[in-house]
Amino acid sequence: MWKRVERAYASLHNRVDFKPQIGLVLGSGLGALAEEIESVYSMPFENIQGMPTSTVQGHSGRFVFGYINRVPVVIMQGRVHYYEGYTPQEAVLPIRLLIRMGVKALILTNAAGGIRDDLNTGDIMMITDHISLVPSPLIGRNDPSYGDRFPDMTEAYDPSLREIARQAAKKVGVELKEGVYIQFTGPNFETPAEIRMARAMGADAVGMSTAIETIAAVHMGIKVLGLSFISNKAAGLGSEKLSHLDVQAESEKVVGKLSAIIKEAVQLASNK
Ligand code: HPA
Repeated sequence: MWKRVERAYASLHNRVDFKPQIGLVLGSGLGALAEEIESVYSMPFENIQGMPTSTVQGHSGRFVFGYINRVPVVIMQGRVHYYEGYTPQEAVLPIRLLIRMGVKALILTNAAGGIRDDLNTGDIMMITDHISLVPSPLIGRNDPSYGDRFPDMTEAYDPSLREIARQAAKKVGVELKEGVYIQFTGPNFETPAEIRMARAMGADAVGMSTAIETIAAVHMGIKVLGLSFISNKAAGLGSEKLSHLDVQAESEKVVGKLSAIIKEAVQLASNK
């Protein structure tokens, strides 16, 4: 796995000479956020050696390099999921590659189903902690030059970045809720009984990505800010049937709100 990360990095680095400070991962329907940056290069995943490619509708799969408020950033447009048949280790390879490019912080976004009563469609929830129901991406041999064998996850979502996001949301006048994210494997949406279980376990919102990405980032010593956009009430809690198309459609409606927070947060985080 580590060799594969290095090979991917070498094949990218040969063609793109750009030093991003912050990495951004865009979830379902949030791809339009990449158009908000002053872009310099873009690199489709399939042009990078050894990169798993995204197969999901709404995830085009490329890195976009550019600037947000003069801060050099790299945006991953379209992530790779466990449910696509990749191992957890493979699914986080693009995250490791982002970190290998030299980013000092990662902003992970996703669409999620709201479990807590006050989390409604259209809300934005900052992730304070997570529960992962997917095997850890750290299973397997560890290379200590990347990170510890047993990383501490107590503050996986960095408290200083959380404070920055609160300030950013306040400044742009967007309400920012907070809560615990739970990652199921997908690709099927959960059953109502699974959602009752998730609620009893302490989860506030549910999705199919992000937790394992955070684990990989924490392993490599990188700070993470997680932002969930609530695209629907979780199974059994709303009146609608769940569909990926609705998730995308709802996401597209809040891109503006989310990008306002992100732009402001990038600015504040880069000054740290
Ligand atoms: N469950 C899992 N993943 C999701 C959901 C959901 O309800 N909505 C958006 N992504």
